[in-house]
Amino acid sequence: MIEVSHCDLAYVQGASQVKVYDDFSLKVEQGESLVLIGASGCGKSTLLYLLAGLLQPTGGEIRIWDEPVKGTRRKTAFILQEYGLFPWLNVEQNVSLGLRVRHMPKRMYHGTVEEMLHKMGLWEVKNHFPSQLSGGQRQRVALARALTLQPDLLLMDEPLSALDALTRERLQKLLLEIWQEQKLTTVLVTHSIEEAVFLGSRILVLADGRPTQVMGEILNPLVAQNDYRQTSEFFQKTRYVRSLLEGGTVG
Ligand SMILES: Nc1ncnc2c1ncn2[C@@H]1O[C@H](COP(=O)(O)OP(=O)(O)O)[C@@H](O)[C@H]1O
Ligand SMILES: [Mg+2]
Repeated sequence: MIEVSHCDLAYVQGASQVKVYDDFSLKVEQGESLVLIGASGCGKSTLLYLLAGLLQPTGGEIRIWDEPVKGTRRKTAFILQEYGLFPWLNVEQNVSLGLRVRHMPKRMYHGTVEEMLHKMGLWEVKNHFPSQLSGGQRQRVALARALTLQPDLLLMDEPLSALDALTRERLQKLLLEIWQEQKLTTVLVTHSIEEAVFLGSRILVLADGRPTQVMGEILNPLVAQNDYRQTSEFFQKTRYVRSLLEGGTVG
């Protein structure tokens, strides 16, 4: 579905350049849940901006469904760490925002929004404003807003990192359910090893350094199986990811 071919990207800072990607290639199949993990500053967000069409590579090409990505796409949803909610709109208005921006009449989106509010456990707070919500609720509003647009690609930049441990686990389960139900292609950035192994059908470990290099790629076929977190396979995968991040060999 996604093909990143020989991409280069450099940020210009005054007279100097930060080369983040140099001849970088990556493929993502439809229905994959790809997780990017790596030290901060290694280029994870930059890769999401490239996939979202918010940044253009200086060399190489990115294609989605064989179409070059020249700008933002209707079917790509992007969820940022800071939720991106509008403080002056209530939950229902925030959730329906994307549909309203596309000039869909209320009678057409009403049902979709109602269903989404129920599914995300936001029905009771639909008239609340973001300031009246917990971090977990805000993140669910952001997710609901993205999903009402029926994306074929969901990009998420450390979506759960601001949440407390229990809320985080609950939302990880919700993300997993959504991914399984909709076979939605997702690319998620995290710096949590646990989260990477819990959510990724494939995990890409990026090296700390520029330009970005892939330290390792881990296939995680048992992802989403019942009680995966409690299994020895899960533990082994987390250990492996950790060893790659630490630049060592598997112990
Ligand atoms: N707008 C920018 N201008 C200059 N340098 C930038 C800019 N954005 C990011 N960088 C640099 O590019 C590198 C990768 O950034 P980023 O993709 O945000 O990393 P990550 O998300 O992995 O923490 C970092 O070294 C960062 O300092
Ligand atoms: Mg980042």
